[in-house]
Amino acid sequence: MKTSSTSFRAACLFALAGIGMGIGMAASQDHSLMPAHAHLNLLGWVSLFLFGVYYRLHPALETSRLAMTQIVVWCVGTAFLTVAVAALHLGYSAFEPVAAVSALLLLGALGLFTLLVFRSGKQTQAATPALTAAE
Ligand code: HEM
Ligand code: HEM
Repeated sequence: MKTSSTSFRAACLFALAGIGMGIGMAASQDHSLMPAHAHLNLLGWVSLFLFGVYYRLHPALETSRLAMTQIVVWCVGTAFLTVAVAALHLGYSAFEPVAAVSALLLLGALGLFTLLVFRSGKQTQAATPALTAAE
């Protein structure tokens, strides 16, 4: 599957979970899991959708193994960070290492994305200098 399609599909699944959680918080009037909800939506829905848009705009990355790795690592990091942040806010301090490792996974995935952005910028410029002068 193309990286952008994987990213869009994962983003929708995270959005369903994040919005479900938001509705649950609103209905119960218990906002104690707000940070988990906020990060589930911002890392899972917003960021993954933006990665997908970038990959859709750069067809060379649609079949890149590195780009697919970036998406998968981001998804794993998001899922674990959400669970860890929720657990920490429920008082389970044993989840601190899980939060730390998942944050590092997210940082690594963002580093990978940054590398792909810099590399694809160079490649596009070499291929079509006039069209991409602004990139
Ligand atoms: C039906 C959908 C949603 C519901 C019912 C909902 C509900 C809530 C509730 C009850 C809070 C806690 C507010 C507080 O205690 O101050 C909250 C916070 C938050 N939500 Fe949602 N939410 C929804 C969708 C979303 C989406 C789609 C996003 C992101 C794209 C999002 C991002 C946030 C953020 C960033 C916060 C934290 C705001 C702050 O720092 O005060 N939510 N949401
Ligand atoms: C590894 C990645 C990240 C880590 C470890 C992290 C950590 C944190 C922490 C510790 C807080 C304070 C929460 C509290 O007071 O209980 C926070 C708040 C917040 N972060 Fe992040 N963050 C990350 C990524 C992001 C990203 C990528 C976004 C936006 C796209 C974001 C948006 C927010 C927002 C809106 C708040 C305020 C709402 C809240 O308290 O939950 N964060 N973050």
